[in-house]
Amino acid sequence: MNLINTIQNLGYLLASILFILGLKGLAHPRTAVRANRMGALGMLIAIVVTLVNKGMSYEYIIAGIVVGGVIGTIMALKTPMTGMPQMVALLNGFGGLASALVAGAALIELEVDPGALHASLTQVTLAIGASALIGAVTLTGSLIAFLKLQEIMTGNAILYPGQQIVKALLGAACIVLVAMIVANPANHLLYLVLCLVAALLGVLLVIPIGGADMPVVIALLNSYSGLAAAATGFVLSNNVLIIAGSLVGASGVILTMIMCKAMNRSLGNVLFGTWGAASEGAKGAGMEIYEGKVKSTSADELAMILDGVTKVVFVPGYGLAVAQAQHATRDLANVLKERGIDVKYAIHPVAGRMPGHMNVLLAEADVPYDELIEMDVINPQLAQTDVAIVLGANDVVNPVARDDPHSPIAGMPILDVDKCKTVVVVKRSLSHGFAGIPNPLFALPNTLMYFADAKKALLDTIAALKEQ
Ligand code: TAP
Repeated sequence: MNLINTIQNLGYLLASILFILGLKGLAHPRTAVRANRMGALGMLIAIVVTLVNKGMSYEYIIAGIVVGGVIGTIMALKTPMTGMPQMVALLNGFGGLASALVAGAALIELEVDPGALHASLTQVTLAIGASALIGAVTLTGSLIAFLKLQEIMTGNAILYPGQQIVKALLGAACIVLVAMIVANPANHLLYLVLCLVAALLGVLLVIPIGGADMPVVIALLNSYSGLAAAATGFVLSNNVLIIAGSLVGASGVILTMIMCKAMNRSLGNVLFGTWGAASEGAKGAGMEIYEGKVKSTSADELAMILDGVTKVVFVPGYGLAVAQAQHATRDLANVLKERGIDVKYAIHPVAGRMPGHMNVLLAEADVPYDELIEMDVINPQLAQTDVAIVLGANDVVNPVARDDPHSPIAGMPILDVDKCKTVVVVKRSLSHGFAGIPNPLFALPNTLMYFADAKKALLDTIAALKEQ
């Protein structure tokens, strides 16, 4: 038994080291693929050494692996890149559900086999309460996030009077219920009531959040799912679950803070503010700023503009992902580079719908990493840039964020493409981006609008350049 314990703990140590090195490697595109494999290997080791245990019902475990593996594979294959935030939301929710269920099973086990306790009864029941509470909040919060992003329910903020008080009361009720479980673990009804109240709290925490704040909430729920798993680690006295859960919890919080910073928001403002609601009010409004000022262009004209320039910057945004135009972008860049033109890609930290979205998309098309330039580095170079080609980006190039303190996105750092000599915006219409507000960039004298699907526009431009 001792030997098995030692092997397990060594396996867990190795798995934890692989998780930490994997997380570190994910910070750079060059090392990200290897890092992902390291994390997966760590998880495989953790699972295998956990299964080397007496009294396991292997038939249920194998059935679970087969059913879960098939569902996971189908989901991963079917989900388009643009649907990743919803998928992550759903997976976070399942993580929360698993933690809450394991906590419930452990509570029942306490009665069946009290001698199996690895820690004091208070410690274990406290961990069970925490796991149920955070797990249930994560489950329903993530399901609401999924329904919003999948547009099954409205993506707008749903507000009602006294919402902060209701949430505070539910939060307080959860804490009292956890204390009651610690005092009376034999009363399983308390666990069920805690799960129900926490589930309601999860719904109410996420429905008032809307619009562009949703990806931030998903990062936060990801962190919650890690904390729930860490609490479950304490329930089971499983070191690798505690470490992996803490890593997910901490990295989720760091990611949330990075996203808030890139949008110039505080976390409190995202969770309790009303940006989604404010932008709703502005939706469809303000379109008159375009009247008589918008100039449209075509592939032939763009090819003529690109003939003889020295520096071109591509600005990818969410629309590039929708159009799946990453390969066409690289192809146009290659044609331009063959003509001696300096080509760079301006990367905004929250372009697209998830962190690193544009980096991943362009890496998929083998765009060299050194051509992807971060916002702070490229912004001072834009005034010396001949042409900026904005590909399905909108909010991240909206000058109102910089110039209008009353705008719903005031203070969000943007790519200053309006300072380029010529800006060509490729999108299908004048419609707004995620924040739901008009973009005066489209009406500037140095802007040309190319109304088309990004991929088609790029392919037509390549054809026009080759015909020259
Ligand atoms: P958005 O502002 O959402 O604009 C995307 C534009 O793409 C739309 O205006 C749309 O215009 C266009 N588009 C859609 N399909 C297209 C296609 N097939 N071809 C060409 N264009 C197409 O995108 P963004 O500039 O990348 O900004 C991201 C937004 O998400 C920001 O508001 C940001 O704060 C928010 N957000 C992002 C994150 C992360 S981590 N990325 C996190 C939180 C919030 P048409 O319909 O006219 O084509």
